[in-house]
Amino acid sequence: MAKINDNYLKLKAGYLFPEIGRRVRAFTEANPSAKVIRLGIGDVTRPLAPAVLKAFHDAVDDLGTTDHFAGYGPEQGYDWLINVIIENSYTPLGVSLSTSEMFISDGSKCDCANILDIFAMDNIVAIGDPVYPVYNDTNVMIGRTGEADDKGYYKGIVYLPCNEANGFIPALPTEKVDIIYLCFPNNPTGVVASKAELKKWVDYANANDAVIFFDAAYEAFITDPSIPHSIYEIEGAKKCAIEFRSFSKTAGFTGVRCGLVVVPEEVMGTMADGEKYSFNKLWNRRVSTKFNGASYPVQRAAAAVYSEEGWKQTKEIIDYYMENARLIREGLTEVGVTIFGGVNAPYIWLKTPGGMTSWEFFDKLLNECNVVGTPGSGFGPSGEGYFRLSAFGHRENVIEAVERIKKNLK
Ligand code: MLT
Repeated sequence: MAKINDNYLKLKAGYLFPEIGRRVRAFTEANPSAKVIRLGIGDVTRPLAPAVLKAFHDAVDDLGTTDHFAGYGPEQGYDWLINVIIENSYTPLGVSLSTSEMFISDGSKCDCANILDIFAMDNIVAIGDPVYPVYNDTNVMIGRTGEADDKGYYKGIVYLPCNEANGFIPALPTEKVDIIYLCFPNNPTGVVASKAELKKWVDYANANDAVIFFDAAYEAFITDPSIPHSIYEIEGAKKCAIEFRSFSKTAGFTGVRCGLVVVPEEVMGTMADGEKYSFNKLWNRRVSTKFNGASYPVQRAAAAVYSEEGWKQTKEIIDYYMENARLIREGLTEVGVTIFGGVNAPYIWLKTPGGMTSWEFFDKLLNECNVVGTPGSGFGPSGEGYFRLSAFGHRENVIEAVERIKKNLK
């Protein structure tokens, strides 16, 4: 009989969001008349920007013509999309990238998971706690870890606690690690890292021959001009960092699917004989073998995000979500809730009132306010006692949810 990959059996529970979905379904089945407001998973609710939608439609029409029909595209993504991203999203930051350093994908979740393919299993990995669960769970799935302990920490991973005392920004590891996951603006805490903070990580990585996986999926939500949007704004980062970006939250593509990975030519690893080898070459090899590119209409739609009209409309949607974040932040602060994040990020990270556990607060909000959020402990042991609310809801739902919670907590 074929054997299973029993690393999967080490995973503690179901993936966080399906687990929340199951609990909410059970509640709605038992309470069919309850108007449940979902501010749990960070899923967008605004329709695509009109200019983006038009480009999407036009590209679908192209597929119905002999002259413009598109079959297999380049596995790495079309140059016309890559170049428009570089020109509009990196050049203004003073970051120069060549076309061969960017790879278009069908979303950042897969990229964050797939990148592990090109790294040896005996690399030591450091992960924040709390953290986007994909970083942790994919390392478990490929067999880099032992079993989890009682707290939920897997043997073999170096966890970097993020708490109120360190402003939810992890301290540098005290031991040598080879791979470091960083996510800023952060999911789930909504905090951001300054250039000085990122410089510490880049310097650590260069001094220790480590590679940083920098997840910048939420960079478009930064409102403070002093906060870096890309790790490559930091000197030395092109030698040590791989950056992930996503159209999901920036342009409402959670259902459309498009993301990108930047693997600079200079990021090197070592071969078994100690010689250096470029991760860009390896990633290119992987992509060419295991992927056939994001679909042509999706890439056309993504390129339209950067047209003058497309960006203006997209920015209006981003501002809409950030206004939601302000309403949640200010509303809950009024009733004494301690809030973090939500200023440069679409997530509000709050301290559960009265010392409740994260799941206790989840149940209270679901049962008493009919509002769904995400328990902080689902993002890691250090998330216990915290709770995440997403700003991606419809405005009227956000207002109503805040009113319900305020009334409940008064
Ligand atoms: C979240 O809610 O953390 C995100 O929507 C998950 C994701 O981007 O995959």
